[in-house]
Amino acid sequence: MRKAIVYTSVHHGNTEKLVKRIAEECQVDLIDAIKQMNADLNDYDMIGFASGIYYSKFHQSILKFSEENLSADKKVFLICTYGGSANFKSIEQILNKKHASVVGKFGCKGYDTFGPFKLVGGIAKGHPDEEDMKNAVDFVKGLH
Ligand SMILES: Cc1cc2nc3c(=O)[nH]c(=O)nc-3n(C[C@H](O)[C@H](O)[C@H](O)COP(=O)(O)O)c2cc1C
Repeated sequence: MRKAIVYTSVHHGNTEKLVKRIAEECQVDLIDAIKQMNADLNDYDMIGFASGIYYSKFHQSILKFSEENLSADKKVFLICTYGGSANFKSIEQILNKKHASVVGKFGCKGYDTFGPFKLVGGIAKGHPDEEDMKNAVDFVKGLH
């Protein structure tokens, strides 16, 4: 089963840190949704979308990428990092239209210095940590 993870990580590289660890330990190709915005997903049996949460949504580049490049009826999994709480709704709305089947969702905290949090040195400092990354690897290994 060929797997790819399409990701965007613009704040502190939290999501990138997570997906790079997954790629080291699992057979997964990484696709940067901003640098490889026209990547072809047709060779993959399962596609992951990974993003930080920005204003309660996956990054616009991921939403656009999935709108434009995901064909119908694919198996999909979702990964996010967040300062406060996970929120998959923005991408799930697109996936519903494409009749994708979401086979798993994973979220963990990611260092966040956005807005007022900067004044207190940020929140979720140190995340994703080793345990978060181990959990993410186990999550991907468990996908079928
Ligand atoms: C502009 C902006 C908006 C954000 N909005 C949210 C939010 O609505 N909810 C939340 O839990 N975290 C929010 N965060 C925190 C990020 O989701 C968190 O730091 C994430 O790990 C960033 O991932 P990245 O380093 O891969 O970009 C926001 C961060 C930024 C910079």
